[in-house]
Amino acid sequence: MPREKILIASDHAGFALKESLERALVDLGFDVQDLGTDSAASTDYADYAHPLAERVSSGEVQRGVLLCGTGLGMSYTANRHARVRAAVAWNPEIAKLAREHNDANVLVLPARFVSEQEGVEILRTWLDTPFEGGRHARRVEKIETTATVEKNESNGDV
Ligand code: RB5
Repeated sequence: MPREKILIASDHAGFALKESLERALVDLGFDVQDLGTDSAASTDYADYAHPLAERVSSGEVQRGVLLCGTGLGMSYTANRHARVRAAVAWNPEIAKLAREHNDANVLVLPARFVSEQEGVEILRTWLDTPFEGGRHARRVEKIETTATVEKNESNGDV
């Protein structure tokens, strides 16, 4: 079976953790494509988030990983692309819920707020957790529509 391609990119604040996560992804058997940055020299996060998100949005690649200092700039940028659901996760529980409830196809790490070990654990959890579907599929589908929708009657869903 061909190895799954996965994209990874960061700005300068995420560079060191990106290098560690890239090694972890290679060890896990992924075909990793690193879209930069290539050093800890100051850069602009959007220059890296847009190219990665475009390729997830088009369906060329199923999953991607982005890193910046807080995770916020990368997530704001990636989430401007249709069909991209970029989730900032600062612990494994958030990563698990981002998959189960939100079908996150891009993981965003706040590199200045997680250790290398935490980063790898968050990544592994996100990779290994399936989407739950069901009521969450309905909610995820509604993300892509700009039409006003009628509020659902409460049906006990959580
Ligand atoms: C860079 O200093 C920092 O602003 C950036 O990595 C990120 O945290 C922005 O959201």
